[in-house]
Amino acid sequence: MEKTRILKANLHSAKLAADLIKRGEVVALPTETVYGLAGDSTNPKAIEKIFAAKGRPADNPLIAHISNYEMFKKIAKLISEDTKKLTEAFWPGPLTVVVPKSDYLCGESCAGLDSVGVRMPKNAFAREVIELSGVPFSAPSANLSGKPSPTNAHDVFEDMNGKIPLIIDGGECEAGVESTVISMLEETPVLLRPGVITKTQIEGVLKKTISVANGVLTPIKDSSLVRSPGLKYRHYAPNAEVFIVVGKLADFAEFVNSRANAGTFALCFDGEEKLLNCQSLSYGDKSSATSQAHNLFTALRRLDKLGAKTVYARCPEKTGVALAVYNRLIRSAGFKVIDLNNKN
Ligand code: TXA
Ligand code: MG
Repeated sequence: MEKTRILKANLHSAKLAADLIKRGEVVALPTETVYGLAGDSTNPKAIEKIFAAKGRPADNPLIAHISNYEMFKKIAKLISEDTKKLTEAFWPGPLTVVVPKSDYLCGESCAGLDSVGVRMPKNAFAREVIELSGVPFSAPSANLSGKPSPTNAHDVFEDMNGKIPLIIDGGECEAGVESTVISMLEETPVLLRPGVITKTQIEGVLKKTISVANGVLTPIKDSSLVRSPGLKYRHYAPNAEVFIVVGKLADFAEFVNSRANAGTFALCFDGEEKLLNCQSLSYGDKSSATSQAHNLFTALRRLDKLGAKTVYARCPEKTGVALAVYNRLIRSAGFKVIDLNNKN
């Protein structure tokens, strides 16, 4: 077991993190979305350590994080006009563009694909580490594969203690859900993962309609047809069995109250707890998808600590930022939905 240190984010710890990354080590650090497990994108040994620490399937590619546009030009074989428009509008920020890859990054970081996901994080500490190390870092979310992504250093420590030398504590992540991922490989861009940068915002910049990958809202039936390997796997799941429950609050309350027992929890919106006779936890303000995105993963992790066995979750909207919340929740539920509006 390796001793894992936790240091506050500052220039000193940025230098230390950059040094470790240059030496092929893996460091957990904050971004504006979720915490990442960062290793040198050009070093196969570092990439191997990332996959090992997470227990991640080797066919699921990593996102390369950059701090300036020159790095992007080195990594991408081709940067289309649409890609330029999006990166100008949203970088630095929580948008990952999938583009054809050059030979600059090691193949292992992209799971052998001929494309790569790239993003320039808004978090200044993350960018500082890239500047200081002089190389892009590849970083998946810093959770054990399949678990909810960590949005604070404590959650990272729970999953990564003993597996990596250093965790940088930069406080709570702003967004709370991972970046929006969009494939720019075809004429019509494809949304592979919704995030806080919305489909509508992207369409506003491109002045055209984009498509949404199969698997974002519905389960993949034939995994050979998947556009993004990440869409194949169960994700964001606490130990409990999660169900999304569609319907009015009064019907939800009746439903969960009739099922109340020691292991059952309702995952509801702020203020709804008082109507519920079972154990409950809120994941944010019903009218604010941003607040739900910010809180969802923390709530899912908290359910594990409370010993939840079955979780019934109120259903978020499916538009704007809420699409990102819905996507994470439906995946943590393994696509299981109970619709109280269609009771027979
Ligand atoms: O916000 C984020 O993006 C965070 C922080 C740490 O930056 N990172 C993150 O990485 O969420 P990860 O590895 O947990 O998710 C990356 C997603 C996966 O679903 C993966 O399949 C997809 O991006 N992806 C990466 N490269 C791809 C490619 N070339 N083609 C299609 N999908 C790709
Ligand atoms: Mg992840």
